[in-house]
Amino acid sequence: MKNSILFASVRDSFPYQIKVFEEQTLLIKEITDFLENYLLSRLLESFPKPLGLATGRTMEPIYRALINRLKSWPKVQLEELLKNWCSFNLDEYVGLGIDDYESFLSYMKRFLVDPLDLSPEKFHIPNGNTEDPDKAAFRYLEELQECGGLGIQLLGLGGNGHIGFNEPPCNNKDSCRVVSLSSSTRKQNAFSFGGDLNKVPSKAITLGLAEILNADEIHLVVTGKEKMFILKELLSSDCTENLPASWLKLHSRVFLWVDKDAYAKC
Ligand code: GLP
Repeated sequence: MKNSILFASVRDSFPYQIKVFEEQTLLIKEITDFLENYLLSRLLESFPKPLGLATGRTMEPIYRALINRLKSWPKVQLEELLKNWCSFNLDEYVGLGIDDYESFLSYMKRFLVDPLDLSPEKFHIPNGNTEDPDKAAFRYLEELQECGGLGIQLLGLGGNGHIGFNEPPCNNKDSCRVVSLSSSTRKQNAFSFGGDLNKVPSKAITLGLAEILNADEIHLVVTGKEKMFILKELLSSDCTENLPASWLKLHSRVFLWVDKDAYAKC
């Protein structure tokens, strides 16, 4: 068995705790262990804070592994977890809803809600399929605040350094809102629209850096060769509007899960 962690460190210039894995599968296993333990510890809390969830290709194997793990739990324990479940997703396209395969709502139904048979009221995602997305964004923020803000937040990294759909330039005080998607993000996400850029919505609702930085703990997962340049930039950059993920350096509990491919240029 290969050594799963190539190294784990905290750099002076870079406050994240980084774990670099030889292979993506090893990373998935370890983050699943972590999430499982976190969910177990949540069972003991009277008012656990909501989980912050992300979508995207990076998260797919994590959800698959986590569902398998949870399904091996004793029935009573799993029922207890689901009874007290509360999660908030980061973002959603404007103009897409449950009937659109590409919506993040459909994604979460496929990867989490249906496999766990989760009650809809325990799972939150911005409503992008509405006449008034600004109002939906505002309402979403209110809901999150009513639930006490985020506990742990899972994050993927966009090719241009976005987190959620916080596109550059973005401020660390930005709150949940409607945003315009950059052409690079629309290109990056066109794969799930059959490669047709014209089908990718131009707007989205996203939690802002204000809500993300307010989470108790943040776990940023970066895998694959296509992320190696943006990861290198992130590790060396100061906090800047041009690289939204760089604002995470303002948070004291950020954990970076990286595979060897993504780390190749660092
Ligand atoms: C998408 C989503 C993010 C996601 C990121 C990375 O556009 N808005 O929530 O984490 O970009 O996506 P992927 O994991 O597919 O590379």
